[in-house]
Amino acid sequence: MITLLEQALQGNIVPRPPVWIMRQAGRFLPKYRELQERYPFFTRIRTPELASQISRMPVDVLGVDAAIIFSDILVVPDALGCPVTMEAGAGPRLPHPIRTMHDVEQLVRLPAAESLGYVSDAIRLTRSELSDSVPVIGFAGAPWTILCYMVEGKGSKDWELAKRFLLEQPQAASRLLDLITDQTIDYLRMQHQAGASAVQVFDSWAAALSPSMYQTWMMPLWTRIVSSLADIPLIVYARGAHVGIDNIASLGSVAVGLDWSIEAAQARMLVPSHTLQGNLDPVMLFADHDTIRKTTIQLIHDLGVQRTIINLGHGILPTTPVDAARVFIDTVKNYT
Ligand code: CP3
Repeated sequence: MITLLEQALQGNIVPRPPVWIMRQAGRFLPKYRELQERYPFFTRIRTPELASQISRMPVDVLGVDAAIIFSDILVVPDALGCPVTMEAGAGPRLPHPIRTMHDVEQLVRLPAAESLGYVSDAIRLTRSELSDSVPVIGFAGAPWTILCYMVEGKGSKDWELAKRFLLEQPQAASRLLDLITDQTIDYLRMQHQAGASAVQVFDSWAAALSPSMYQTWMMPLWTRIVSSLADIPLIVYARGAHVGIDNIASLGSVAVGLDWSIEAAQARMLVPSHTLQGNLDPVMLFADHDTIRKTTIQLIHDLGVQRTIINLGHGILPTTPVDAARVFIDTVKNYT
C-alpha cells in the first residue's frame, strides 16, 4: 500500500496532507531524554535496536505520518575518516578539521554499505517494526553543510573558515565537495535500498553563502545529486538559501523544503507544481492551543492540500511541550 507521504511526493490526489516534524525523533520527547542519559550519542546511532526504538517514538507518541531514521548528518565526515565527537551541551567537535589539500588527500571513501551499513540495519529494523504502517524517511547533509563542519571542526556563526576555504583553496574545496557528494549519493541510495521511502537532504547553512557563490559552487552539486537519484523521492531543504526556492525547484522532480522565513502562500506562488514541505515557525508551538490550530489550518490553506507535506520550518525546539506538538499533528490529521 502506498502511504500518504509517498502520495504527496508523487503528486497524487490526497484527502489531507501528510505531517511530520523535523527533528521529531531525538530532541524533545521525554522517553528520548531517558535514553540520552543511558547511552552516548554515537552508541544510540550505531545500535540498530536503539536507533529504531528512537525513530518509532514520535509515531507512537504523536501519530506522525512518517518516521525519520534516528542518525545524524555528521556520520558522513566520520565515514570519510574525519572523526566526530558529540559532547552534551557542547555540540559536535571534529578534532582533525580539513584545512589543506593534504588533509583532503588523507580522506578515504568506502562504499556506504561498508562504512555506514549500521544505518541500513537501523532502517531495515525500523521498517519491519513499524510493519509498514508509516514510511521511513532517510537523510543526509548537503555537501556545503558537511564541508562547513569538516573545515571549521565545530559549529560557527558565520562559517568564515569554510567560506574562505572555497575562496583561498578552490582546488582543495572542489575536491572535498566532490568526495562528499559522491559519498552522499551512495549513502542516500543505500538508505533507499534499505527501505527509506524518501530521503531529505539538509543544507542547514545555505544562508552563509551569497546567491552567486551558492550558484557557482553548490547548484552543480545539487544537479548531480538530483540526477543521480532521479528514481528516489527527494526532499531538498536548503535553509535560507538566497538563490531562492524557485531555483531549487528548477533542479527537477524534487520536493522543496521551506524554512519558516518565507510566507507559505508566496512559496506556493513561486513553486506551483512541486511538492512543498513546511513551514510553521517552531516557536509557534509555544502559543496557546487555539492559536496553534488556527495557524496550522491557515498554513494548509496557504500551501494547498495537494502536493503539500506539513512540517515545521526548522527542527522542533528541545523545550517544546509534547501536548503542543500533538495539537499541531492532530489539526492536520483531522483536516477535512
Ligand atoms: O529527529 C531527529 O532528531 C532525527 C535525527 C537527526 C539528528 N540530527 C539527531 C541529533 C537529524 C535529522 C539531525 C540533522 C542535523 N544534525 C542537522 C540538520 C538539521 C538542522 O537542524 O538544520 C545538523 C546541522 C546536524 C548537526 C548537529 N548534530 C548539531 C549542530 C548538533 C548539536 C545540537 C543539536 O542540533 O541538537 C547535533 C547533535 C544531535 N543530532 C542531537 C540529536 C538528537 C543532540 C545530541 C543528543 O541528543 O545527545
